[in-house]
Amino acid sequence: MRLLALIRAMLSLRLLSALAALLIPAAAIAEPGDVQTAWRLLDYMAVDYGGAVANGRIKSTSEYAEMTEFAASVSTRLQGLPAKPERQALIQRAANLQAVIAEKGPTEQVATLAHGLAADLLRAYPVPLAPDKAPNLVSSDALFRQSCASCHGMTGNGRGPDAAKLATPRLLSPMPSARASAACSRSIRW
Ligand code: HEC
Repeated sequence: MRLLALIRAMLSLRLLSALAALLIPAAAIAEPGDVQTAWRLLDYMAVDYGGAVANGRIKSTSEYAEMTEFAASVSTRLQGLPAKPERQALIQRAANLQAVIAEKGPTEQVATLAHGLAADLLRAYPVPLAPDKAPNLVSSDALFRQSCASCHGMTGNGRGPDAAKLATPRLLSPMPSARASAACSRSIRW
């Protein structure tokens, strides 16, 4: 009897949350994706800006263009978030980050600004950052064979049949130490 009551309660809760989902305005539904993307862009910028600018000069035009684009994209996403007391300050800090990048400011400053903004964004608009379920290793293995192994090789050694056709096969393997350490500094590995 008690179990039945519990099941009933759970069912009505599910019904309630389904109803709530229908009632939430579109802007609020778009929010988790925007927060997650902005957070990841900031995390990426904090680590990779060093590859774009050094001592006030552009080191790589393409990396620098990416940093400029990412910073603008963060600003746009923050402006689209539902209003909250913290939002305006976050938007201001994103604009500041854009300005520092436009001036080709120092790496440490960009890293500090980007990491700080990412952390406070998550505090104001909490969203989960980890996948909600473990990866399916069987289908991911098939996907890797199908879409990635041609360049990266079946064992990931970078010697796939198409690797030699690339203009920059050396980027595939072994992972250059600077890139490897950049990848390791991303927050997902902290
Ligand atoms: C056409 C060839 C090609 C295919 C197909 C390919 N890659 Fe790559 N991948 C590359 C090259 C070249 C690099 C190095 C790029 C660089 O350093 O700028 C790379 C880099 C990477 C990196 C390192 C990125 C980083 O920021 O350090 C990852 C991870 C990766 N590939 C995963 C994948 C996955 C997953 C797939 C399949 C879904 C895939 N790749 C398919 C050529 C390929």
